Amino acid sequence: MTHDHHSHGRVTLGGKLSAVLVAAGSSVGLGNIWRFPYIAGDNGGGAFLVIYIACVLLLGLPLMLAEFSVGRAARCNAVGAYRALNPKWSLLGYNGVLAAFLILGFYFVVSGWTAEYMVHSITGEFAHYTSAAEYQGAFERFITHPWRPLLYTVLFALATHAIIALGVQKGIERSAKLLMPLLFFVLIALSIHSLLMPGGGEGLRFLFRPDFSKVTPSTILVALGQAFFSLSIGLGTMVTYASYFKPDTNLRHTALNVTILDTLVAVLAGVVIFPAVFSVGIEPSSGPSLVFITLPSVFNGMPLSMVWSSVFFLLLVVAALTSTISLHEVVTAYLHEEWHLSRRAAAWATTAGTTALATLASLSVGVLNGWKIFGLNLFDALDYLTANIMLPIGGLLTCIFVGWVLDRQTLRDQITNHGTLPFRIYRVLIVLLRYFCPAILLLVFLDNLGIF
Ligand code: PFF
Repeated sequence: MTHDHHSHGRVTLGGKLSAVLVAAGSSVGLGNIWRFPYIAGDNGGGAFLVIYIACVLLLGLPLMLAEFSVGRAARCNAVGAYRALNPKWSLLGYNGVLAAFLILGFYFVVSGWTAEYMVHSITGEFAHYTSAAEYQGAFERFITHPWRPLLYTVLFALATHAIIALGVQKGIERSAKLLMPLLFFVLIALSIHSLLMPGGGEGLRFLFRPDFSKVTPSTILVALGQAFFSLSIGLGTMVTYASYFKPDTNLRHTALNVTILDTLVAVLAGVVIFPAVFSVGIEPSSGPSLVFITLPSVFNGMPLSMVWSSVFFLLLVVAALTSTISLHEVVTAYLHEEWHLSRRAAAWATTAGTTALATLASLSVGVLNGWKIFGLNLFDALDYLTANIMLPIGGLLTCIFVGWVLDRQTLRDQITNHGTLPFRIYRVLIVLLRYFCPAILLLVFLDNLGIF
């Protein structure tokens, strides 16, 4: 029988490790394995990596700590948390809940693709194709199929729902404890396999050698958006999860560990993908389809191809699932606590709403492709709007809120666990949150609006 942990009437997660695994479960996702490699590929490889790591350390880490502090201080959902700390700032919580909802709109779709690809890898259906062009054809036929991608999208949403319905401890915490170690194990096995591949050196050089000639100001916004997306910050996921942390959880260690794990997974995903891609002489910058077209064809040339490709797509499914769970929880906790729905009803409302949006997004890359918003189909529009606009704005407002508006004592109590941990980091944090982060975020925004 599991023992229920409660603190001030709120469910809390078990030990230290649980906080790290649950938050890392949210962070490590399709953003690391599907999105990071093609974005790095499109934006100059190693040069992008350098800028990305700078964004993670200087902006991502302080912001994660800021969100952790807000969540654990208020101990409620994102909207309620900002409202409890300052009634005028509930808007920031709404930006987060809405962003979580919209991200699920396209995230469930890609998650569905990964599930379908895993099944196809296992049944050996991919083994019939011989050229990259055939894989491309197969991918396009699949995502434009009228109902197959929908089926997998719905199944993925239901799987997420099932875990959320089990609750914070038995659903979210238990699944993270099971799935995250599995994910690391699989990722390490795939990395070793990739490093042993003949001709893989070129892929590693591409990933690690910086070529700054490809860097433009918009690269920095892309890196920033990717860092926030990958770390799950700027929308209240970490607020929501930290609301379940224990009073003695060390927020800085947790944030540091999550940030390191997340970045490590992104880099290792690059190590898995680029040497494989270069070993068969394909250009890496092939956009979002890198993982669904290039990789299956790369796997196909290898001995035991079915095994490697099944394991790779299993990795994606696992990574996606722990992230969809966190996004779902942001919306579910909000509906449950603010609208006073039962948790069950809140979870169903979230599942129904996000599945409806994901259905439209899925059709928008297929049958409804003619239907454009600002020149983008719904799927791309949801990705662009959330990662490049809502998350950076959420991040900017979060550092202004925590740096300038939030009562200093509240922040200090959270960061130092009521004075039981040293103060040094708190001082650095406050400078970053007050001056550095808002300044950089504003500059990047204004620059991208063409102000300079
Ligand atoms: N961090 C997840 C990923 O990298 O795939 C995506 C994500 C989850 C973004 C949760 C935002 C979020 F709140």
